[in-house]
This record gives sequence, structure tokens and C-alpha cells, in this order.
Amino acid sequence: MKFGIICVSDRCYRKECEDKSGVAIAESVKELCDGSEYRLVPDVQIKIAKAICELADEEKCDVIFTTGGTGFAPRDVTPEATKAVIEKEVPGISEAIRAKSLEITDRAMLSRAVSGIRGKTLIINLPGSPKAVRESIDVVLPVLPHAVETLSGNTQNCGGNY
Ligand code: MTE
Repeated sequence: MKFGIICVSDRCYRKECEDKSGVAIAESVKELCDGSEYRLVPDVQIKIAKAICELADEEKCDVIFTTGGTGFAPRDVTPEATKAVIEKEVPGISEAIRAKSLEITDRAMLSRAVSGIRGKTLIINLPGSPKAVRESIDVVLPVLPHAVETLSGNTQNCGGNY
């Protein structure tokens, strides 16, 4: 599986801090990963959208994780950038992440993260801290192989009336 990792952070972009959340994503997906692409962008909607499109359309990533910019701060626009470029929403993934995260912290309800599909790529917003990344990503890892297989057009293991 090829992964795209996009860190969305003004401060990391200005080199005022290191991107520990992107590292946390890379560590978490290690066992499923046979290739990855990384981008670091500021909290600017068009730059986030461009990075998602590039990793989906040109780099052909199977799954893209973004980290950061999902909250209430005036410059938090990752969900808006994502919604602008996905063709189908996948609300269940973000709902599952929030449900699991709410068992850990009430503040999970402050993430406006979304998930969706662009072409054959699944895009998943994660919150911005390494702690939140680790707590969130484990929820989705078990379904990724089936999700990616289905997106590629192989519906053999889906069950149902295909
Ligand atoms: N989800 C988990 N699992 N753990 C967390 O610590 N932090 C929350 C929330 N989701 C958190 C979480 C907080 S405090 C905020 S403000 C929002 O994610 C948005 O974070 P972001 O703006 O960095 O994306």
C-alpha cells in the first residue's frame, strides 16, 4: 500500500517546530506500507488541496493521511480543503475515529475532520498532535486493506450482490 502523509501546520512550515505527527503516522502504517510520499504545507486551503490532488492523481497514493488544521482556530481549513477535492464522502471513518477518541477525551468533538475518496485514493483527516494521531489511526488501520482493494475495483471479498 502506498501512503501519502500531509502535515498541515503554519508553525512546522515556518520551521518553528518539528513535525512529530507525520512521524507518528509513518510509524503507525509501517507494516502496511510499501511506499510513501510526504508533504508539509501551511494552513492555506489551496495549498492543502493541491498537495492532496498531487499525492492522489500523480503519486497514486492508495491512502492519504493529513494531520492538523481540523479544529476551530481561524486558520484551520483542512476539512474545507479536503471536501473541495473529494468526489465521495466517507463519513463512517471520521465518525469511528471521533467515537473512539471520545472515550479518551471530550475534546475529540472539537475535530471537524472528514474522510473521502478521490479517484482510487482514500483521504483521511487526522487531528494535529502526535497523541491524537496515535489514538485515531489505530481505529482505521484494520479496514484499510479491504478499503484499498475495493477502491481498486476488486469487489470479490465484499460479500453482497456484486
Ligand atoms: N482526538 C484524539 N484522539 N485525541 C486528542 O487529544 N484532541 C482534540 C481533537 N481530537 C484530540 C483529538 C483537540 S484538543 C482538538 S482542538 C481537535 O482534535 C482539532 O485538532 P487540530 O486542529 O490539531 O486538527
